[in-house]
Amino acid sequence: MHIGLDIGTSAIKALLVNSRLEPLTSASIALSVSRPHPGWSEQAPQDWLSAVDEAMLTLCQTHPDEMASVSSIGLSGQMHGLVALDNKGTPLRPAILWNDVRSAVEANELDETQPLFREIGGNAVMPGFTAPKALWMARHEPELFDQISTIMLPKDYVRFWLSGEKYSDPSDASGTLWLDIARREWDNQLLAACHLSRAHMPALAEGSIAAGTLKPAWAKRWGIKGDVVIAGAGDNAAAACGLGVVSPGDGFISLGTSGVVFAVTDRFAPAPDNGAHAFCHALPGLWHQMGVILSATDSLNWLSEIVGKPVPALAKAAAAIVPDHDSPLLFHPYLSGERTPHNDAAAKGGFFGLSRTDGVPEMAFAVLEGVAFAIADCVDVLRTAGSTPTRFLATGGGAKNAQWLQMIADMIGVEIALPVAGDFGAALGAARLGALANGRDQRELLTQPEIAHSFAPDSKRASYYAARHRKWQALYHAVR
Ligand code: XUL
Repeated sequence: MHIGLDIGTSAIKALLVNSRLEPLTSASIALSVSRPHPGWSEQAPQDWLSAVDEAMLTLCQTHPDEMASVSSIGLSGQMHGLVALDNKGTPLRPAILWNDVRSAVEANELDETQPLFREIGGNAVMPGFTAPKALWMARHEPELFDQISTIMLPKDYVRFWLSGEKYSDPSDASGTLWLDIARREWDNQLLAACHLSRAHMPALAEGSIAAGTLKPAWAKRWGIKGDVVIAGAGDNAAAACGLGVVSPGDGFISLGTSGVVFAVTDRFAPAPDNGAHAFCHALPGLWHQMGVILSATDSLNWLSEIVGKPVPALAKAAAAIVPDHDSPLLFHPYLSGERTPHNDAAAKGGFFGLSRTDGVPEMAFAVLEGVAFAIADCVDVLRTAGSTPTRFLATGGGAKNAQWLQMIADMIGVEIALPVAGDFGAALGAARLGALANGRDQRELLTQPEIAHSFAPDSKRASYYAARHRKWQALYHAVR
């Protein structure tokens, strides 16, 4: 038995799988995000630990026999979060998350004055990444910054709590911007640009290699009898492993809190100009390119909160809308600024073209359409960067919405395939990485899933959306 533990932004998910890596059950514990100032996004690391404990205790209660024979835990985690620890391993402040844009000034400064971030780190410096956040902390919280002993990423902090060992992996470490992406090692010069050194960083081990073993006290508390190895990757690379997206040319689209377009590459392939990310994959000798939007399902969550209707009710209302070529109603999903393609922390979300007759269904439809346009922008950026998958697998909570997937397929002109268990991507990938760390064979484990439904693009709808997409893009430039 193996466990995949996904440290998400909106929830911690623990997935228990059998030796054939088939899901048996899962437990999900919701998390909240604190936004004390505009543009800030934080979580207390302790909340992840309490939620992991609760999820593991749930599995232990419902599946005691299976839990007894768990032999690995694979971790998958929201990327880029800054977890600053003192010399006792205690967090000095709440974690600064991937969608926090407070460090826009520091990001621009590093991008303009330190060309090595693009050359070695492979990416434009954006405020979501960890490096500018550390520089922000050095400037705005110098007393805390001086006490930093180790900087960790969210899933690596959970690994530290589970095992007492400090490790990261190249896929997640890529998102710090302190990694030499081609060599898969920390880079002294990039760290020094943020007043840090290798001594502040955890050791690195590939995502499929055992890095840490579960402390006996946790094994006892969760009813696990034998030794348990720990491995894992950043959530997008882990999701790729869960979907079998592990050969150059393979790709997936994820509709989670963030929206992601991911394409595997056989080498480090930087293309930093329009916010394309070039990162290490979770497996040795593989890399990937990625476009990321900051508010995918989070845009729906926001609408749900302000109109007081649950997301499924919004999706149902939107499904009844017949797309209208002439509707002026458009939505920009830039509620937390945007990464790909704008790299614009100051970008704002908004509805444009509302009429007195528009209600929640029209607004919900516009949100789905606006997020889909933003995903289509990412596909365009990756095409320019050289990645042209001929099919995308779909994953993430938003992939349950067939209307959304069809809309995206029509806009990008590429088939989207929805797996039978689409929303297990990252947690299943984590479980697979854990099983690899147990010595299981990569070819046997990293297969592509059974497909429940394929969404083929329709050329008539494609030309309708192309015209609206151009209007939607022009609107951003006009109001910027
Ligand atoms: C990737 C990114 C997000 C987070 C969310 O660059 O910022 O996808 O990993 O979990």
